[in-house]
Amino acid sequence: MTATTRTHHAPAPAAGRTVTGRVLTGDRPTGGLHLGHYFGTLANRVRLQQQGCELFVVVADYQVITDRDRPVDLAERRTAMVLDYLACGIDAEASTIFAHSAVPALNQLLLPFLSLVSTGELDRNPTVKEEIRTADRSSVNGLMLTYPVHQAADILFCKAELVPVGKDQLPHLELTRSIARRFNERYGPVFGLPEGLLGAAGILLGLDGRKMSKSLGNGIALTDCPDQVAAKVRAARTDSERRISYEPTRRPEVATLLTLAGLCLDEDPASVAGRIGTGGAAELKRVVTESVNTLLEPIRIRRAGYGAADAERVLRRGAERAREIADATLVEVNAAMRMG
Ligand code: TRP
Repeated sequence: MTATTRTHHAPAPAAGRTVTGRVLTGDRPTGGLHLGHYFGTLANRVRLQQQGCELFVVVADYQVITDRDRPVDLAERRTAMVLDYLACGIDAEASTIFAHSAVPALNQLLLPFLSLVSTGELDRNPTVKEEIRTADRSSVNGLMLTYPVHQAADILFCKAELVPVGKDQLPHLELTRSIARRFNERYGPVFGLPEGLLGAAGILLGLDGRKMSKSLGNGIALTDCPDQVAAKVRAARTDSERRISYEPTRRPEVATLLTLAGLCLDEDPASVAGRIGTGGAAELKRVVTESVNTLLEPIRIRRAGYGAADAERVLRRGAERAREIADATLVEVNAAMRMG
């Protein structure tokens, strides 16, 4: 944890800050959200909203094209993502849910921001490096290297104070803070410095022990039905020791499952292990399946109450509000830069 980051368990505001300010976060609409997203940031979003924060959620459609060379049906992906949000309990009336592509002034901020970062800095971003490694392509496109700067525009256009994210997003947040600081130094004070808020999970591992990820197909999606959850958990690797114990280094597969159950039950993984005792892998898997399904049940029920038309309405309304704010910020930025 860095000095600029708070955790789920430390909800007290940092010195001099209120938590009722603006909160911005977002996701790439590359497929359904999974439990890694849920524990990484979705749960925090709902909690912050309940505390009275003004929540902004960006459906990061421009980030989808960082690593694909074929067209994707982005409109359909956006709708599915918004349904995931509504299902998790994000209140669409109180929050602003919008897509990158619907807010021109946000995208325009990318240009001055690009001038504030060095190519070396972009090359060194560990999250981007990892994405380049897993994409395994013969060449790297320019957006792959620069999307973190675009992400800074997502955060700064609305002057968000708090950014609930998974740990892998912290390099982008550091870059955002550098851009804000450098802009202010060069042109005068326009931006505050946003802080990150890490979820309970850090990075939740997938059922194969690698980071839970849509592209690796090792996660439990929020839309998985009880049987799909059971099948995925059944297929997860364990070991043959009867007594279940939480030992992440010696028994990583078992620890991954205990962590997942612990998060769903809001219980320490070691205590989940204690309850299972000598029940072995079968009992462990039963507990994991049941705890995941209990967590997902209200999410499934809420989702069933919404349709594509609701999602589209939410996006339209969000875009209007985001445009108003982005336009105002761009006016301020242009004035500071003596362009306006
Ligand atoms: N990069 C984030 C992800 O892959 C999505 C994202 C886009 C985001 N813009 C953001 C997250 C702004 C936080 C703040 O999940």
